[in-house]
Amino acid sequence: MIVDPWRVEGDIDYDRLIEEFGTKRLDVSIFNTPPENLPVMLRRGFFFSHRDLDVALRDGFFIYTGRGPSGKMHIGHLPPFLLAKWLQDRYGANLYIMISDDEKFVYNREIGWKEIDRYAIQNIQDIASIGFDPDRTFIFRDTEYIRNMYRLSLEIARKINLSTAKAVFGFTGESNLGLIFYTALQTVPTMFEKNVPLIPAGIDQDPYWRVQRDIAESLGYRKVSAIHNRFFPSLMGPGSKMSSSKPETVIFLDETKESLRKKIYRAFSGGQPTVELHRKLGGNPDIDVSFQLLYYMFEDDDNTIREIYDRYRSGEMLTGELKDYTIERIWEFLERLQRNRRSVNIDKYMYDGKLASEMWNRYF
Ligand code: TYM
Repeated sequence: MIVDPWRVEGDIDYDRLIEEFGTKRLDVSIFNTPPENLPVMLRRGFFFSHRDLDVALRDGFFIYTGRGPSGKMHIGHLPPFLLAKWLQDRYGANLYIMISDDEKFVYNREIGWKEIDRYAIQNIQDIASIGFDPDRTFIFRDTEYIRNMYRLSLEIARKINLSTAKAVFGFTGESNLGLIFYTALQTVPTMFEKNVPLIPAGIDQDPYWRVQRDIAESLGYRKVSAIHNRFFPSLMGPGSKMSSSKPETVIFLDETKESLRKKIYRAFSGGQPTVELHRKLGGNPDIDVSFQLLYYMFEDDDNTIREIYDRYRSGEMLTGELKDYTIERIWEFLERLQRNRRSVNIDKYMYDGKLASEMWNRYF
């Protein structure tokens, strides 16, 4: 199992990650809300681990998350943003979203600026379609906002030596200078405000927060609080994650209903090879990709999900029925996002909204 900001490989053992990374298991009673009022991803354990979430909730926080624009976005990229929206709505917190175009440029030695620019704009439109509060959200591209961040990035870079970076991120003699410096840059927004930065993100991003927590106080800022999500499994089945570099493993945000149907039909299932056997032996929802998608994200109703589980397990529900139901639920979600996307104005998040205009006048 390898989990770092650039690679997620092998069979992911989430309990082991909690232990190895030294994080805490998430118990949602921390939110002091009846579970039925929590979003599915919290209620059903998709967000499974945290660092100092209690501190953020106690002392007040702002939210920071991000996206590296190396390709089209898929549904696996959404959980941190959906949780950010819920946190913003519930706690009225400011939200900062980094588009790390610099990171993706230095990471992939083949990619050019033209492609990066195209994906950055597409990705920002996707993210903006989620509907954040335009006066409390700032979406920025590193290569553009750098003039306001460069000094702080140098203060941070000066505190991190190469052997720490090697130990935390696994850099070698082959790693390029750009990627090494970028590690300082991803930390900068954790210091945009003086209160606690709360970061919803996949647990692959945690190495950054570990370094941040070692140096933040010496620079006069608060340590990161983080809340970590699991990885959406590849459509091809458990054992790897959805990854844009393999289009057959992912559901992109711009799928049509037809292409969505094709992908779900080809997705790994926990059903038996024939209807007769399925009726007799029942299916296995725990490894079925459609069921996982419903369970963690697309089926809100607890009774319905329990019923589907039982009916699939007993063989009463066939794989085709489960897939058809999953397609409808995902399409309902994608259609709404695609509709929002057609009318979204990204400038209000990047330049014109209240927080965005303030941020263009602030230097860090
Ligand atoms: P990126 O663009 O690789 O991924 C964006 C966010 O999605 C999470 N993620 C996933 N979650 C569930 N299932 C998957 N299959 C899956 N694939 C990716 C990632 O953990 C991430 O939260 N370096 C970052 C960009 C960034 C950032 C940040 C992320 C800059 N600042 C602050 C989080 C917080 C990156 O390349 O993410």
